[in-house]
Amino acid sequence: MRTIVAGNWKMHTDRTTAAELVNGVVKGLEALPAQVEVVVAPPFPFLASVAEQVNGTRVLVAAQNCHEAATGAYTGEVSVGMLKSIGVGACIVGHSERRQYFGETDTAVGRKMAALLAGGITPIYCCGEVKAEREAGRHFDVVGRQIDEAFAGMDAEMIARVVVAYEPVWAIGTGLTASPEQAQEMHAFIRSALRNKVGALADTIPLLYGGSCKPDNAAGLFGQPDINGGLIGGAALDATSFVELVRLATAAKH
Ligand code: PGA
Repeated sequence: MRTIVAGNWKMHTDRTTAAELVNGVVKGLEALPAQVEVVVAPPFPFLASVAEQVNGTRVLVAAQNCHEAATGAYTGEVSVGMLKSIGVGACIVGHSERRQYFGETDTAVGRKMAALLAGGITPIYCCGEVKAEREAGRHFDVVGRQIDEAFAGMDAEMIARVVVAYEPVWAIGTGLTASPEQAQEMHAFIRSALRNKVGALADTIPLLYGGSCKPDNAAGLFGQPDINGGLIGGAALDATSFVELVRLATAAKH
């Protein structure tokens, strides 16, 4: 099974600090064996320069969003082909911030995933329940439905090329983390939902945990059998913390 540590920079950094951050990550990784896949997702304006900086290293560059159409009159949007042409290898889709602030639905996210897969870019599909849903005991229903709707119309071969990130919304940027047991329980649920769709291929789909994952809590999370790495927000903005998370994932999995 692959292990992936991905950093979601969200709407942070500028041209100078983006270059410094990725430089720090590349330097820090030199001391580690290359067993874990490392991904950074800078804001759109810095994707091309960061992709050039990591060329020839083990770091892959991801976008944080895309549009499903190839080209057209969609002011402010960015297509998969554009991302591909500058060396972007993955794209986060369905992040809870995009669902919450930009009204993205699972059906829309499913269309983006189909466009990404057709264009040869790996979708990192985010799902997860909000606090009230967990408190009401509805978290499995919610995540199960998100997966069903987003993957509707995709065949097994397509679904098997997606990376899934479970990000409980109550844990994102809040300092609250799912316990390793809560995370493992949900990851096992997601794995079985995927097994219903793609059979044994589900065991090859990396499932990442996200939500206040930091060096002081990552070992317990990465130690769980169905957690194959992390999608990291805040701690990815500091090269030392991010590289430490890669080290912890390497230690836990390899
Ligand atoms: P966080 O963000 O690590 O800052 O909680 C995770 C994410 O939103 O992907």
